[in-house]
Amino acid sequence: MTEPILRLRGITKHFGNVKALTDVSLDLEPGKVVALVGDNGAGKSTLVKVMAGAHRPDRGEYLFEGRKVEGATPASVADMGVQTVYQDLALCNNLDAVQNLFLGRELTGPWWTGFRVTRASAEKKAKDVLRRMRLDSISLSRNVGAMSGGQRQNIAIARSILWEPKVVLLDEPTAALSHSAAEQVGSLVRELASHGLAVLVISHDIHHFVLDNTDRIEVLRLGRNAGSFNSRDVTGEQVVNVMVGGDETVNMAG
Ligand SMILES: Nc1ncnc2c1ncn2[C@@H]1O[C@H](COP(=O)(O)OP(=O)(O)O)[C@@H](O)[C@H]1O
Ligand SMILES: [Mg+2]
Repeated sequence: MTEPILRLRGITKHFGNVKALTDVSLDLEPGKVVALVGDNGAGKSTLVKVMAGAHRPDRGEYLFEGRKVEGATPASVADMGVQTVYQDLALCNNLDAVQNLFLGRELTGPWWTGFRVTRASAEKKAKDVLRRMRLDSISLSRNVGAMSGGQRQNIAIARSILWEPKVVLLDEPTAALSHSAAEQVGSLVRELASHGLAVLVISHDIHHFVLDNTDRIEVLRLGRNAGSFNSRDVTGEQVVNVMVGGDETVNMAG
């Protein structure tokens, strides 16, 4: 068994009277894709935000590479090597793929160029990353606003990869995508894991995306762990049953 790189233990997060998370635990391992599933309001996004350092939990432990993480912030979590792609993608529609990839991390030239961002070097690095991710078909110079939902999603994921993370968290990357676009995201997610990254992906598409592209499925229900399955040993019906109502915790992942 692979040692987890990121572990949450006993995470509780309440917003006033709303018990978003109660005593939730989750492990992510290098080279593995974990699906986080659950009904609307189950606490999935809140859990991702805790991992991303965007929410401070009321209780619980956050461990990274075996060490306790105290007072995680978005910047400290990014520094450890954890990147998050949120549902809104935060792409600039009026910019092209290269500009979007390097948004907020301007490349600088040597001092005699006046440290100007060099388009040529950005393009070279962008091409390199997209090729490694098998996304060569994406245009570098078209505005991303003119691209398909699937291409935009893949650019947002590619942008997170430029930071060479060890862990990638994806909040509903296939929402609003066609079946074939979702399949492209699925191959990308598996590609990342094959390079040794730990991947967490939230998805509602249990029957296709989750069963076909993930190694393990973690179910949240009403803010609590409700089940854990090896993706290859379970049917979509079994997962959905636990999502919507099984009142006992199920652990089939061993
Ligand atoms: N910032 C917040 N303030 C208050 N309540 C919140 C906040 N974020 C989430 N919640 C509530 O916490 C619960 C879990 O939400 P969320 O994590 O977004 O669920 P999911 O992503 O599984 O749909 C919901 O009841 C939601 O309304
Ligand atoms: Mg959500």
